Amino acid sequence: MDKPFVYVTRRLPEEQLSSLKELADIEMWEKEDEPCPRDVLLEKAKTADGLLTMLSDRIDAELLQRAPRLQAVANLAVGFDNIDVEAAKKQGVICCNTPDVLTESTADLTFALLLAAARRIIEASDWIKQGNWTGWGPLLLAGADVHHKTIGIVGMGSIGRAVARRAKGFGMNILYHNRSRNPEAEIELGAAYTSFDELLGQADFVVCLTPLTEETKHLFNRSAFQKMKQSAVFINVSRGQVVDEQDLYHALVENEIAGAGLDVFAEEPISKEHPLAKLPQVTALPHIGSASRETREAMMRLCAENIALVLSGKPAKTEI
Ligand code: GLV
Ligand code: GLV
Repeated sequence: MDKPFVYVTRRLPEEQLSSLKELADIEMWEKEDEPCPRDVLLEKAKTADGLLTMLSDRIDAELLQRAPRLQAVANLAVGFDNIDVEAAKKQGVICCNTPDVLTESTADLTFALLLAAARRIIEASDWIKQGNWTGWGPLLLAGADVHHKTIGIVGMGSIGRAVARRAKGFGMNILYHNRSRNPEAEIELGAAYTSFDELLGQADFVVCLTPLTEETKHLFNRSAFQKMKQSAVFINVSRGQVVDEQDLYHALVENEIAGAGLDVFAEEPISKEHPLAKLPQVTALPHIGSASRETREAMMRLCAENIALVLSGKPAKTEI
């Protein structure tokens, strides 16, 4: 009997896919840093039993309809707004993401971005490299303190709690808003649950970690930015579309808020001409939340294991 066929939509290190090797014929898109074109993905899906996908691939009804053999989709991300999970379920396709393995690394990056935005780290480094350092000044590149300030975390899942643990170490006052309350965070971390508006009004750092859904699309809009302190810094490490970028741009140029640290954008990648990338008070990163080598490799292994389990008729480790 033919082995099942698994298509991987980026070139990944083969040793990370070892759990699948014996079981399936694996083919990969040849490029590491460029997405697999849609027509190639649609073509491969026709005969695929499993797909190992990236957040830049759209797994929608159109694709699913053309994939009669498909049993498993493993997405190399915790977020899965790129997958029509409902359509997949109807067709009996098991979808998996990579929670947990990336929690601490993503929290590290979130806190790094918060510190960088507050203390103008990237701006300061660029400033030296551009040859501007001709003398010391008392307010030269002065930023804002982080310690003992108020952090407001919107989306208190595992990553939110891991960010809160870091904030606790900085002596911060921790507020959070979430669909449901999280007693664990309240007891262990002293995090206080507030309404969304109350959090916006009180936080010095508003940190967005909520998944992108119909309800959270453009959650951060003009009205939300207007409720923030003028000194507030907005940090987004979830998905760009949770933010209305025009409204964010407006809030920044009108000094309604002080700055932003953005790891994600509504349409990625962005160019240096993107209005937000041109603002000095924006620290922009290319969607690297979970991008430590160890974590990305763990995510790859988890995706491969999930597909192997499903193709062997066993429950996946992290089904969505
Ligand atoms: C990255 O954005 C992820 O969802 O893992
Ligand atoms: C969300 O923050 C998660 O860890 O799933």
